[in-house]
Parts: sequence; C-alpha cells; structure tokens
Amino acid sequence: MTVAINQTNFTKYQPFVKWVGGKRGLLSQIIPLIPKEFNNYFEPFVGGGALFFELYSLGLLKDKNVYLFDINTELINTYNVVKNNPTELIKNLKEFKAKHSKEFYYDVRAWDREEGFSKRGDTLRATRFIYLNKTCFNGLYRVNSKGYYNVPIGSYKNPNICDELVIYNASEALQKATILNASYKDVILHVKKNDFVYFDPPYYPLTPTSSFTSYSEFNFLDKEQIELFEVFKKLNKKDVFVVHSNSDTEFIKNLYGEFHIEEIQANRFINSKSSGRGKISEILVRSCL
Ligand SMILES: C[S@@+](CC[C@H](N)C(=O)[O-])C[C@H]1O[C@@H](n2cnc3c(N)ncnc32)[C@H](O)[C@@H]1O
Repeated sequence: MTVAINQTNFTKYQPFVKWVGGKRGLLSQIIPLIPKEFNNYFEPFVGGGALFFELYSLGLLKDKNVYLFDINTELINTYNVVKNNPTELIKNLKEFKAKHSKEFYYDVRAWDREEGFSKRGDTLRATRFIYLNKTCFNGLYRVNSKGYYNVPIGSYKNPNICDELVIYNASEALQKATILNASYKDVILHVKKNDFVYFDPPYYPLTPTSSFTSYSEFNFLDKEQIELFEVFKKLNKKDVFVVHSNSDTEFIKNLYGEFHIEEIQANRFINSKSSGRGKISEILVRSCL
C-alpha cells in the first residue's frame, strides 16, 4: 500500500484544540515516513492528535484498534467528552461564546482553584478546556507548580470558540479509540508485533531556556528523554514500528544514533515574540525503514 497522498484533500477530521508542538504543519513530511503497513495504532503523547486525525482522514486506521494517551487529565477528559457527549459540549460552548469577555475568561480560568472543581462534571470541565484553549494567549496549556492553569487571555477579536463541525467530526473519528489518561510508558502493556507507535513528546530544548516543555506539572528533560529512549528500544525489540519526533539537537541525535534519523523542516513558533517564528529543522527517528 502506498500512502503518498496529497493531504490537502483529506482534512475532514481535524484536532479540536490548538496545541503547542502540534504536527498539522508537518503532516506532508511525516506521512511518507510512516510504516506502509501496520496492525494497531498508538499515539501516547496525543496532544491535539494531528497525526491521528490525518491517518483517520486518509482511511489508514480502518479496522484497526487505536490507543490515544496523554498525561494531561483535562485534555483526556475533553477527548472523552468529544467522543461521548458532543451535543451537550457544543450547547455549552455556544453559551460560553455568548458570555465571552475578559472577566468571564478569568472567572472560568479560576475554576481549578476551587475545591469542588471535579464536581462540576466532565462536560462542563471539557467546555472550560476548549473555551480557554480558544481564547487564551497562543493556545498555550501551562499550569503552575500547584497544577493551576495560568495562561493569560489572548487578544483575538473573534475567537472560534465553538467549531461545531470539527467537534462532530472528531467525535466520529474517536468512536472506536481507546483514550487513556496515562503515561506513555503504559504503551508497553498494550502493543504487539507490527503495531505502529508514534511518539511526539515535549521536545528536548534547543537551548536551556528556549523550549516549552511544561504541558502539565510533569517535566520532560534529560532523564525523561533517556527513559523514553529505553522504551523506544524495548518496542523495537518487540518488532513494533516506532516513529519519534523531536528537536534537531546533539543530545537527541546522539541518543538515537543507531536508528534512522530524518530531518524535517518546521515553521515553528516558540517565543512570545514574533522573532521567535521561522523555519527550524526537527528530526524524525524511525525504528526501521
Ligand atoms: C508535543 S505535544 C504532542 C503534540 C501532538 N502530536 C499534536 O499534534 O498536537 C506532547 C504531549 O505529551 C504530553 N505528555 C507529556 N509528558 C507525558 C507523559 N509522560 N506521558 C504521556 N503524555 C505526556 C503532553 O501533555 C502533550 O500533550
């Protein structure tokens, strides 16, 4: 089977959140490098799930089991609500859209400081998550040391708070997916020979201060990258196809020196200043060709 397909025709299913490090802009470079054939699909750092939604759009996940993991509890709750309760979610988002203001943003942002936050229910928490994602500064997800969301409001004139079609389509794509709030390490409990695992972890920083790695209260620095490498090797030994995106740094290239490394060009936005935009090279490591 050949997968050299022009992606622009197949974007019916798309991420329902903006996500830092999201892979939408890189799909045309990633798709030709994935295994031509595989059994089940695993995306253990799912974030916005750009590759999952693209593979689904391309019909490459038909009759396969799909496992999506993320350590971010609120994100995974939102995936489950999009999957199981899109209609109530959309109704809530329309209400939030009508109420949107600076004051409303900061009221909603403060919900996670309340003791009864979890009692608000899954659908309202998911509404909050999407609302904040669409209205906050640059779609960032960042929490402080207590786990409280702390991103300021963005300066959008007309933020797209309720994208009904994207949510209904995402819900359809997720119907058969297993969605887990778990560490990527749990992938080992589920994979079998000839499965495909796509690792897209928080990137190793280009410089000590350059990269955004705090997607949650869990850091992802040298120690965590080395642990991920150990999992990569274990999966390779089990004849699982592993593809891993990361920054083009000596640290990562030395770690994965024995595997196949491709450079890809990304239009990245890292800093809050516009000077932080531009083309930078990233790498894609493959366990086999
Ligand atoms: C680079 S982003 C993934 C972006 C995604 N590929 C996309 O297209 O939007 C990395 C994700 O890994 C998650 N993460 C960080 N540490 C993790 C861990 N130990 N296990 C699972 N997920 C983790 C973060 O919450 C974040 O969503």
